[in-house]
Amino acid sequence: MKHTKVKDLLNSTQTLHEVNAKGWVRTFRNNQFIALNDGSTIHNIQCVVDFENTPEATLKRITTGAAVSVTGTLVESKGAGQKFEIQVSKLEILGDSDAEKFPMQPKKHSLEFLRENAHLRVRTNAFGAIMRVRSVLAFAVHQYFQEKGFVYVNTPVITGADAEGAGEMFQVTSLPLDNLPKTEDGAIDYKKDFFGKHTNLTVSGQLEGEAFAMALGQIYTFGPTFRAENSNTSRHLAEFWMIEPEVAFNDLHDNMDLAEDFIQYVIKYTVDKCADDLKFLEGRLLEEEKSKPQAERSEMALLEKLNFVLENNFKRVSYTEAIDILKNSTPNKKKKFNYIIEEWGADLQSEHERFLVEKHFKSPVIVYDYPANIKSFYMRLNEDGKTVGAMDILFPGIGEIVGGSQREERLDVLLEKMKVIGIDEEELWWYLDTRRFGSAIHSGFGLGFERLVLFVTGMTNIRDVIPFPRTPGSAEF
Ligand code: 4AD
Ligand code: MG
Repeated sequence: MKHTKVKDLLNSTQTLHEVNAKGWVRTFRNNQFIALNDGSTIHNIQCVVDFENTPEATLKRITTGAAVSVTGTLVESKGAGQKFEIQVSKLEILGDSDAEKFPMQPKKHSLEFLRENAHLRVRTNAFGAIMRVRSVLAFAVHQYFQEKGFVYVNTPVITGADAEGAGEMFQVTSLPLDNLPKTEDGAIDYKKDFFGKHTNLTVSGQLEGEAFAMALGQIYTFGPTFRAENSNTSRHLAEFWMIEPEVAFNDLHDNMDLAEDFIQYVIKYTVDKCADDLKFLEGRLLEEEKSKPQAERSEMALLEKLNFVLENNFKRVSYTEAIDILKNSTPNKKKKFNYIIEEWGADLQSEHERFLVEKHFKSPVIVYDYPANIKSFYMRLNEDGKTVGAMDILFPGIGEIVGGSQREERLDVLLEKMKVIGIDEEELWWYLDTRRFGSAIHSGFGLGFERLVLFVTGMTNIRDVIPFPRTPGSAEF
């Protein structure tokens, strides 16, 4: 008999027929009630075992974590909070789980402990919910762009280009590390490498994406990117997934419109599709909030927060306006910013970003037209000669969720910029070709997928929204 997913069993329209379910035991109460979960939904199905007619040896093997197959009659449940249960007629243990050794005991574990068990934490309610939400969000990303006629482009993971010019790259070599070829002066000779040049793991697919937008019009990437920055924060990963749309003939304002529409679409899609998981995560969050002092508790519950983003336009403010606001503000009566912005040109720190979003505007904020010298080389220089058409989208509780810009389409201006900051023209000859042949204005942005998952799930550490987090000192799995 083919098994039926628990989700479908719980949504059944008829009862009293024979069904089979397969999954993992969450708990086994009173030698009689199995809470069975198969990952298809946050909910368990209760399976009522006929313990009088089941051998003692079998009952002993129904332990938390064991894989089982149950066959029986689907009946309406008298228990609270569940519509149906299975009256078990046949029970098979598929895989035992030593109750004493299984790390995911039916109790609350700390997130730190769960991170050390990333291969098993997905068997908990919270991580099951998070990973289903992540999957639906990813699908919504494709659906949004595909519906709009964007072409999905797979940009390379191994590349010779430093797209952000920030030097935060993992090096890739095909040669044995203990025998790297040397030049005459003793330096490592990357030219002798398999790839014929120095290669890295990509920090962004943008530059390749731009080349494709200059032929296909509207493209998006969605893939893993890598940053060798040693930032041990709750917002940074060494390996994260980025979504990067790039659109020919879009200016900065079109770019902001696209980003806002896109983010609202994927959140709406997920709120609609993941109601049960989000409700569970909201409840988990409310529990957690109770242990915090009143002043630190968030003003909105999770779904309220998500709906707020859907129902309100993002505030748009130029960097210059943002600086004026920050110069005239203190985060609260007693405390000043740790880093006080004295003059125009300083980069915003996360405390400033959070102040703008959480205290001043109380809304997602798009900051645009940043000083040229704190942003990447490819951003378009504005008429004032000192700002670029950059835009960052800042989110409550997250900070920067999107970084994007209108790109510099003028070859001479781009070359001049590269010269000033010391980027080798030869390294990017192919990128410059996009400006040599049929250049046109274009814009795009990058959305950090995990930061979006953080926002939607209400989790607070980025390590908890990616299956196997890669951070400095953690790449065990
Ligand atoms: O602001 P970033 O560095 O911009 C780019 O890479 C551009 N090439 C994007 C583009 O215009 N096509 O990164 C974009 C976003 C950030 O806003 C953030 O959400 C996320 O990527 N991000 C990270 N997420 C997790 N861990 C990290 N270490 C991240 N670094 C950036
Ligand atoms: Mg950025």
